[in-house]
Amino acid sequence: MASRGGIHALLRTLRRTSSYAAGREIRPGPACVLLRLGARALSGDAALCSRPLSGETHAELLELSHRDPDRFWGRAARDRLTWDRDFERVQDCDLQQGRIRWFVGGKLNVSVNCLDVHAARDPNRVALIWEKDEPGTEERVTYRELLEMTCRIANTLKTHGVRKGDRVAIYMPVSPVAVAAMLGCARIGAVHTVVFAGFSSDALAGRIQDAQCKVVITCNQGVRGGRLINLKATVDAAVKSCPTVKSVLVAQRTNHSVPMGELDTPLEEAMARESAECPPEVMDSEDMLFMLYTSGSTGKPKGIVHTQAGYLLYAALTHQHVFDYSAGDVFGCVADIGWITGHSYVVYGPLANGATSVLFESTPVYPDPGRYWETVQRLRINQFYTAPTAIRLLLKYEESWVKRYDRSSLKTLASVGEPINNEAWEWFYHVVGEGRCPLVDTWWQTETGGVCIAPRPAEEGAEIRPAMAMRPFYGIQPALMNEKGQILPGGGVSGALCVGQPWPGMARSIFGDHQRFVDAYFKPYPGYYFTGDGAHRTEEGYYQITGRMDDVINISGHRLGTAEVEDALDEHPDVPESAVVGVSHELKGEVPFAFVVLKESAEENQEDVLKELGQLVATKIAKYAVPDHFLVVKRLPKTRSGKIMRRILRKVAMEKADGLGDTSTLDDPAVVSEIVQAYQRYKSRTAKA
Ligand code: WTA
Repeated sequence: MASRGGIHALLRTLRRTSSYAAGREIRPGPACVLLRLGARALSGDAALCSRPLSGETHAELLELSHRDPDRFWGRAARDRLTWDRDFERVQDCDLQQGRIRWFVGGKLNVSVNCLDVHAARDPNRVALIWEKDEPGTEERVTYRELLEMTCRIANTLKTHGVRKGDRVAIYMPVSPVAVAAMLGCARIGAVHTVVFAGFSSDALAGRIQDAQCKVVITCNQGVRGGRLINLKATVDAAVKSCPTVKSVLVAQRTNHSVPMGELDTPLEEAMARESAECPPEVMDSEDMLFMLYTSGSTGKPKGIVHTQAGYLLYAALTHQHVFDYSAGDVFGCVADIGWITGHSYVVYGPLANGATSVLFESTPVYPDPGRYWETVQRLRINQFYTAPTAIRLLLKYEESWVKRYDRSSLKTLASVGEPINNEAWEWFYHVVGEGRCPLVDTWWQTETGGVCIAPRPAEEGAEIRPAMAMRPFYGIQPALMNEKGQILPGGGVSGALCVGQPWPGMARSIFGDHQRFVDAYFKPYPGYYFTGDGAHRTEEGYYQITGRMDDVINISGHRLGTAEVEDALDEHPDVPESAVVGVSHELKGEVPFAFVVLKESAEENQEDVLKELGQLVATKIAKYAVPDHFLVVKRLPKTRSGKIMRRILRKVAMEKADGLGDTSTLDDPAVVSEIVQAYQRYKSRTAKA
């Protein structure tokens, strides 16, 4: 199959086997009789990337976005997006009810905004640079080529029965085909749910079942850090329990041929049979664009729903202003498309802005710890966006791994996913950026759609403090609350981080369970969106995120509900109950620590049971979710009403048992000393080992 030779060989094959005429002009499809509003009018990059409301200073824009959000967002939406029909109302939101609707009555197509408008003006501009696992083997895909691939996948999906509103699961590492698959869904109004390709078959099956996906798109194998990962085998195992799946489309990433079953179709062959044009579906602003599963403090992962216009506008505007993107820049976000960062800052934000976006397939240490900086030099990357966990890993190596490469192309450095510690911040800023590039610590969530708090945008030369997200983005009004649900005014305060005004990028629902959405985000502080994070506000009004306030932990930037791990552990026949907490880890930020109660009959072969428990978590969720520590205890600390007091367990595991706080609500306070003793025995055992 030609695709094994890469994207260009694939495109050549596609052209040979269909009516596609190379070099032919591609016009925006019929749905895009462009209603040109505001400054954009496809007149060139300057208009596209101008400030949303030209002429005003940052302070004026911020003030306007708070005082008159409808005017701010209405003008931004008309300036920046290409509409098939103008909207009637900028917003119809009620945070009390959890009702969020933006650009009501407007019609558009997201793939047209990400592809056709750029391909029409500048077809040969590079949309994607696929930085493959082996250094020096990168491939470039132009806007025209990406539009063509997208249309062919869109047509393939239609041939396989996918209609507007149907859900499609994408289980692939980052690659041009994966991006085309996302945009192909958007083209025909299907809803994609990308599942991180490190999740187990059970986790994948759970998501496919919840979303009732009709089609799964995957590839034969993944390639990462020189290793091959058998993705198709994982999909085969998953779809056995997913009766809604009617087809599996399999792309070829490697030469390895995998067994093809009844449901399977080779993707490239199918694409070759389809037309290179696909009329875009006209979508309502509030139709679903995608859902992405993420962990909450209770229950199964939830399918966070994002819709069309508001999400795209927010991704595009933040991409430009937070990272200081200018036309012609090469934007390097190394996140996987399986997470929201990949959605907003590898795919939708950069492509809406006509940028060149890097798709990073490898790891920070393959083939050596200079990989990021060698890539920066070779691709002339201008903005580099990564996670603190990668920085913590790299700063352990000699500085020469950084310094031997030319980083003069870099303009902005950025970090996301977890609090960045001072040491990592300083190293990233001084060693990588030579103290020359602003380092923006961006705070946001799957639910917020895009960056909400970051040091930029700000006035020229405005101060950036180490390890601080600092300033709210346009239209974001953070509020800190105390335990009684009262707003904490002024500086020098810490509390629950909420947002008091809706913004276009925020999530709309949890798929299939709107009530859960309302309960989780809008009930705790009526009239406010509750983030689940705690934050501190300094005297100057800058925000510093202090971490999750609920039972969600963050392992190398991967969000995990401790309840999910407990559910997996409790499935073992020898485990009547368990409790999992997060403890600090030097590289990963946090790791899970499991307290397990075993049946008496299992106590003899404890070691075997604990091994099985680790395997169980890897099978049910993913390898990264396997607890680093297992401690067998006789019982767990519970309140009189039977609730496990994880706070106490966390203190024990963090070795802060002398400051346990109030234990008076415990059913039997004696349990604490039992657990502390068990922990000390565990410590001395592991220290010896
Ligand atoms: C955490 C990732 C501190 C936070 C985009 C949030 C951060 C969760 C930061 C969302 C940051 C993200 N500083 N903590 N700059 N960025 N977080 O949904 O706890 O995967 O609630 O979205 O990551 O993780 P998610």
